[in-house]
Amino acid sequence: MSNNNLIIFDTTLRDGEQSPGASMSKDEKIRIAKALEKLRVDIIEAGFPAASPGDFDAVAAVAASIKDSTVCALARAMDRDIDAAGEALKLAASARIHTFIATSPLHMEKKLRMTPDEVVERAVYAVKRARNFTDNVEFSPEDAGRSEIDFLCRVIEAAIKAGAGTINIPDTVGYNLPDRFGRLICELRERIPNADKAVFSVHCHNDLGLAVANSLSAVLNGARQVECTINGLGERAGNAALEEIVMAVRTRQDVFSCTVDQIDTTQILSCSRLVSNITGFPVQPNKAIVGANAFAHESGIHQDGVLKHRETYEIMRAEDVGWNANRMVLGKHSGRNAFNQRLQELGYAFNSEKELNTAFARFKDLADKKHEIYDEDLQALISDTLAGEQNETVKLLSLKVTSETGEVPRAFLTLSVNEEECMVDASGSGPVDAVYNAIEKIVRSGAHLQLYSVKNVTDGTDSQAEVSVRLEQEGNIITGQGADTDIVIASAKAYINALNRFVGKQTLRHHPQKTEAI
Ligand code: KIV
Ligand code: ZN
Repeated sequence: MSNNNLIIFDTTLRDGEQSPGASMSKDEKIRIAKALEKLRVDIIEAGFPAASPGDFDAVAAVAASIKDSTVCALARAMDRDIDAAGEALKLAASARIHTFIATSPLHMEKKLRMTPDEVVERAVYAVKRARNFTDNVEFSPEDAGRSEIDFLCRVIEAAIKAGAGTINIPDTVGYNLPDRFGRLICELRERIPNADKAVFSVHCHNDLGLAVANSLSAVLNGARQVECTINGLGERAGNAALEEIVMAVRTRQDVFSCTVDQIDTTQILSCSRLVSNITGFPVQPNKAIVGANAFAHESGIHQDGVLKHRETYEIMRAEDVGWNANRMVLGKHSGRNAFNQRLQELGYAFNSEKELNTAFARFKDLADKKHEIYDEDLQALISDTLAGEQNETVKLLSLKVTSETGEVPRAFLTLSVNEEECMVDASGSGPVDAVYNAIEKIVRSGAHLQLYSVKNVTDGTDSQAEVSVRLEQEGNIITGQGADTDIVIASAKAYINALNRFVGKQTLRHHPQKTEAI
């Protein structure tokens, strides 16, 4: 790796997971972490271990499974958090602790109720404590984007002196504009006497749609680490999208003086799909790099131009980010080994023979309905299989739906709930509504459907449908996914998957930035 590389710090598993409804199980986090390792990101922020025992376990499991990327854990500037982060990272091949404390007047006064002197003292203490666990410590002055520059200089100088090797400048509320944010980075680097002893990093939120622009402006002004997430997932409007940062730097080498040569960009699309699949957050069709239309040329003039000479309308090659790669495929006659091997190539490792056999049986069912199975089908099938294996309090046993012109749609449903078989029928304004009414007639969860989305996994009317739902129940938000060649069955699976995820989700989980500060 050339030392001119921009360090790519992925926080999909931490800040990304802070999006309402995007919480991930330990196994899901491991799958995403492995995909990020394959993408060759430098650092994976795996979570906030002090949030809950589940978060601690997930960070520890990611730390134990990843060898090629550094695994990072977040900690507020307090003993309990730092010790939990150090403990969770014990098995990491390469570990980083990321500790933070807010530095804006608003946050110090209203949230922390601390004086600036106390904040500096606490930042120094936290960095030193983190250094007891690892030499690789990152410090963030939270809400730096609204902090006073003189105070930022003071706290950052002290944090570097205490042993922080990376200083991350977060625009926590996405308030900054590219030109000013770039100048802030430049000024900090010029004014802080020991600035050359640390790598400057940025972490931009997208509240004004400027996260990527602000991050790139910072890079042009000397930042050498960008914190970002796959598909721009993250708190509120999200974070800077990794795929956009990487491809901008790579495509505009005439402008940037650093590179992203370490990143295997051909893995971008599969990472994007995996994250979308697991979180149930769909990717909009016109999303840069990974949206379905990102490389599609609709207008005749464009198509003609691209056919004559690709670069007339394309600034990147679709295959460089993973489009069109390895489309083919397995089919009805493919055996268990071929199936397993292709999944390993896609980054899935089964935990047991039983898991492989279940997935293979579902693959055979799918191959009976759909003759050519693409990588996208396999990804949807695996997510669906693993979703079905989780804590299945509610299971779909059978479903029949009638839908006829001029008639009210009806669903005839059999579920197993806690091993007990329940049969009902219900009507609805459409077949999916009828199915959801039938499920609720049995389960009576009282959940509200906040989002329902359906997407075809591949081209053609024989495609699997991938359905995502977001349910809200007593303030808890959870997503569920289901895939099937039958859209109504996929819809039922998604709803049931979300209901199963509610079970066991009631444990208290702290938010790193919103719970009591210190
Ligand atoms: O947005 C933010 O300020 C953060 C910090 C914890 C870095 O996520
Ligand atoms: Zn953030």
